[in-house]
Amino acid sequence: MTTTGRVDLTDVELFVRGDHHAAFEHLRATEPIYWNEGADGAGFWALTTYADVVWAYRDHAVFGSERGAILGGSYRSESDTAGGRMLVATDLPRHRLLKQHIQPAMSPSVAARTAEVVHGLVAKAVARAVADGGCDFATDIATELPAGALMVIMGIGHQDAHRLIELTRSMVGFRDDVFVDTTDDPQLRLAMLQAEIFEFFAELVDERAADPSGDDLVSRLLRARVNGRRLSEDEIYYNCMNVAVGGNETSSYTACTGLLALIEHPDQYTALLADPGLTATAIDEMLRWSSTNAYVQRVAKSTVRRGDVEIRGGDSVTLWNVSANRDEAQFPAADRFDITRTPNRHLSYGSGIHRCVGSPVAESELSVLFGHLGAEGIRFEPAGEPRRLRSNFILGLTRLPVRVAGR
Ligand code: HEM
Repeated sequence: MTTTGRVDLTDVELFVRGDHHAAFEHLRATEPIYWNEGADGAGFWALTTYADVVWAYRDHAVFGSERGAILGGSYRSESDTAGGRMLVATDLPRHRLLKQHIQPAMSPSVAARTAEVVHGLVAKAVARAVADGGCDFATDIATELPAGALMVIMGIGHQDAHRLIELTRSMVGFRDDVFVDTTDDPQLRLAMLQAEIFEFFAELVDERAADPSGDDLVSRLLRARVNGRRLSEDEIYYNCMNVAVGGNETSSYTACTGLLALIEHPDQYTALLADPGLTATAIDEMLRWSSTNAYVQRVAKSTVRRGDVEIRGGDSVTLWNVSANRDEAQFPAADRFDITRTPNRHLSYGSGIHRCVGSPVAESELSVLFGHLGAEGIRFEPAGEPRRLRSNFILGLTRLPVRVAGR
């Protein structure tokens, strides 16, 4: 809340403290389509009910993505020009043309290969934690999920995958001193991180250009033709970055908030250990509960009315997955963490044409991890305070110290 008692959804502290659920409950009940006044007078609409969020996700003619999914442009620098070039920041028809080259790099068969690689990495990391009696789950185990996925999708080694994760993590956590020196100019910091990420992909493009016949993402983008034209190097870098940020900062944070939910609801943890057959519904519930990607932004292309609210062409509109996922009208006992919940049509992957293209990979990663904990009967318990990422866009834990309580 601000000093005037209004909710301010740009206030990162609201999310760091975990007070956002109460704020959204208040908004859904009183002002479900809420004008969030910006400090600079800019402002944006916030859609908070399940029905309104789905409505906006589905109306691609009115709600465009070209200004990016993140408020204030992006995590990238202000001069960033990803709009219309990076999958998540394109509208139809270009979105369809681009997606057909990116989606196969995250197909169910890639997801199956990812499962194998992630299983090897997770089994090793968990065995190490068991031998040591505990670990920081956030840094020692959860990051192996995107590492395994990157190894398969990008065809890179384990060390390079972790290097890339470190870079994207600093970009998404650019306000968090766990990752970066926050005393310098944030715009400069973002520009430098983006340059480093592009450099990483430039080397990969150079390597693959000699023989781009593989099924990894870079080779696919090198072979791609959109409207008969090759993608420019920048377009390749932006889309690699889209997949890397989309994949690195989501499944691992969901694993952390998911594990914390199990720890905080011991009866649910016990039920999962007793019946690993519950893994699939448990993961759906962890996705709903965590809402790792808290919101996405759209920009209205024309004026539209919803109830008694008029959203004008050019207005920024935010679709709050984290609020929709706790809407009682859609989820009975929404504030209860229930690993048997069915149906569970959560919006954590979004909806409509931009619905997460990496979801088969994410499901594989999470199933491997929680399936392994179930099969091994490993119960983690807290060994220190978890620490939340300083962000209102990605909700995750940067630290989750645990000890092994039982097997
Ligand atoms: C739990 C894990 C994940 C969550 C919660 C998540 C969430 C999301 C959401 C909400 C969107 C929609 C964005 C929008 O509508 O503007 C999205 C899109 C996307 N995600 Fe994910 N994601 C996850 C995992 C992944 C993984 C593992 C990858 C890649 C390996 C990935 C890559 C992408 C890409 C490339 C898009 C853009 C799709 C498009 O614009 O058509 N995501 N994700």
